[in-house]
Amino acid sequence: MSFVIVLFFLSYPIVGLSDAAENWQLGFQDPATPIMEGIINLHHDLMFFVCVISIFVTWMLIRTLWHFNQYRSEIPSSLSHGTLIEIIWTVTPAFILLVIAIPSFSLLYAMDEIISPAITIKTLGHQWYWSYEYSDYLNEQSESIAYDSYMIPEEDLDFGQLRLLEVDNRMVIPINTHVRLIVSAADVLHSWAVPSLGIKCDAIPGRLNQTSLFIKREGVYYGQCSEICGINHGFMPIVVEAVSLPKYIFWISNKLSE
Ligand code: CUA
Repeated sequence: MSFVIVLFFLSYPIVGLSDAAENWQLGFQDPATPIMEGIINLHHDLMFFVCVISIFVTWMLIRTLWHFNQYRSEIPSSLSHGTLIEIIWTVTPAFILLVIAIPSFSLLYAMDEIISPAITIKTLGHQWYWSYEYSDYLNEQSESIAYDSYMIPEEDLDFGQLRLLEVDNRMVIPINTHVRLIVSAADVLHSWAVPSLGIKCDAIPGRLNQTSLFIKREGVYYGQCSEICGINHGFMPIVVEAVSLPKYIFWISNKLSE
């Protein structure tokens, strides 16, 4: 049995390659944006501190219980103060928090940064689907590209499509391009979230939220609405298709001539 567990963890990097959630997945999905790489690196940095602290605290607890229980020390110590130890156990955690804050803040500000975007896409949450607007482009009737994106119901799925994750109209964006995403909602709160892209942006009625996107590789990225928005909250998934720039231009011109 333990052999199976060891094998599972050894093979984990191979098993875990996906841009959608997998059965029994424990770790993160593969990152496709610099932001998600940053999030994963911060997580690993923090895990170092978590491990050291939990091992130290467990060791202290066990030692205390072992040495100072009523059977081992029948006459309890009357010690109640120790200035030096109190300074140490106040300053050390404060210092650890300070060390953690540095990479955390730099990541936080990096996520907030919008670097002169080449494309702006507006995404609106509805009960219960998403809609996308590409207002940078206009066709001959001066209409912009706008379409709805609905989940494909289980009975209509083609072989290989992911249940509860596939949509009829995907959001298409080019790779290696700075994209500005504007997120809002038409009715109630929703949240536009795609794990591989490191984005979880609340969609709030009457308010525009802004986030940036820079995808490094082609692929199909799956996400789900992440704010309880009613009975079909679980049935309004998000699919982002990242393509090369020529393919994107082809897609845009097709959409414009529709
Ligand atoms: Cu939309 Cu939850």
